[in-house]
Amino acid sequence: MGIETSCDETAVAIVADDRRILSNRILSQLDEHRPYGGVVPEIAARSHLQHLPGIIRSALDNAGVKFSDLDGVAATAGPGLIGGVTIGLMAAKSIALVHKLRFIAINHMEAHALTPRLTNNIAFPYLALLVSGGHSQFVAVAGPNRHTIYGATIDDAIGEAFDKTAALLGLPYPGGPSIENIASEGDPLTYRLPRPMKGRPNCDFSFSGLKTAVRRLAEKPDTDLDAPATVANIAASFQLAAADVVSDRTTNAIQRFKADYLDGNTLVAAGGVASNFTLRVSLEETAAKAGLQFVAPPPALCTDNGAMVAWAGIERLNVGLQDTFAFAPRPRWPLDELVVPGQG
Ligand code: KG4
Ligand code: ZN
Repeated sequence: MGIETSCDETAVAIVADDRRILSNRILSQLDEHRPYGGVVPEIAARSHLQHLPGIIRSALDNAGVKFSDLDGVAATAGPGLIGGVTIGLMAAKSIALVHKLRFIAINHMEAHALTPRLTNNIAFPYLALLVSGGHSQFVAVAGPNRHTIYGATIDDAIGEAFDKTAALLGLPYPGGPSIENIASEGDPLTYRLPRPMKGRPNCDFSFSGLKTAVRRLAEKPDTDLDAPATVANIAASFQLAAADVVSDRTTNAIQRFKADYLDGNTLVAAGGVASNFTLRVSLEETAAKAGLQFVAPPPALCTDNGAMVAWAGIERLNVGLQDTFAFAPRPRWPLDELVVPGQG
C-alpha cells in the first residue's frame, strides 16, 4: 500500500510487485484550494485527516484485498507540507503496527523518479528530469536510494512558473493544465520571451525571470488580457520558452550522464509538469539527438498519486530497505543529501 498526502492530493494505491496497479484512489482537494489560488497548508492538512481513512478503505475494496494481504505500507515522509506528510506517515505507521506489516518511509521525489520503472519497466541507471510544483531537477538514478542531483532550480520551480503565469493571465488554478489548454489555440512565436540559463555550462534552472517577463508583458497598456487570442498567444509563447530552456538544460545533463554512466541509455521525465505535451515532445527530440530513449509515465501517474509511493516501497523492500517507526516526517529532504544548494 502506498499513501501520498504531501500536497493537495489524498491518494492511496495498492500495487503488486509484478507491476500491477490493483487500485489507485486519488481525492483531489483542488476545489477547496481554488478560492485562494494556491494550496493552503492548514486546509490541506484538515482535508487529509478527514478523507484519508475513507480513501484507504476504498483502495482496499477496489483492489479486493484486506490489510492482512499486504506485505508492507509505504507513505510519503517528505518533502512536502508538514501537516499532510505527518498525517499520511502516522496512518501508515498505525496500519503497519496493528497489522504487523513492514513500514517504508518514502521520499516523494524518489517516488516520482522511480515511476517509469513501474510503468515502463526500464533498467537502472537512467537520467530523470523531475518537474513539479515544488521541484525542477536532474537526477541520475542508479538504484533505490542511489541518486545524484546534477542540477536544480536556483529560484522558482517550473510548475510554480506555470501556476504564477496562469494567475497573471487570469487563468484558473492549477495553472499548468490551464496554460497547456489555452496555449493550443495560440501562436508560440508571437512574443519573444527570455530563456533564462540557456547556454550556461551547468544543468541548473531559473524561472523567475521568465515569469517577470510575462508580468511586464501582461501589464503593458496595449496588452488586452480580455482578448482570448492575446492570452492564448502569451500562454503559448511562455510554454515554448519553458520547453526551450528545459531542452537546453537537458542536453547538458545528458552529456554529464553519459560520461558518468557508459551503460545509461534512457531519459525519463516525471512529476506533474511532465504531463505537458509540448514539453514531452521537446524532450523526446532532445533525447533522440543524444541517442537516448525517452520515457514518461502516462499523465495520471506523473501528477501526485499513491501508486508511485507503493512502487517506491516495493523497490526499497526489494533491496532490503525498510524503516522503523522512529522515522520522523521531513518537510525538506533532498534526494542527494550531499548536493551543494544552488545560489539564489
Ligand atoms: O507532481 P505534482 O502533481 O505535485 C507536486 O509534487 O508539486 O505537480 C503539480 C504541478 C503544478 O504546478 C501544476 O500546475 C503542474 O504540475 N502541472 C502542469 C501540467 N499538469 C500539472 N504543468 C504544465 N502542464 C501540465 N499539463
Ligand atoms: Zn509531486
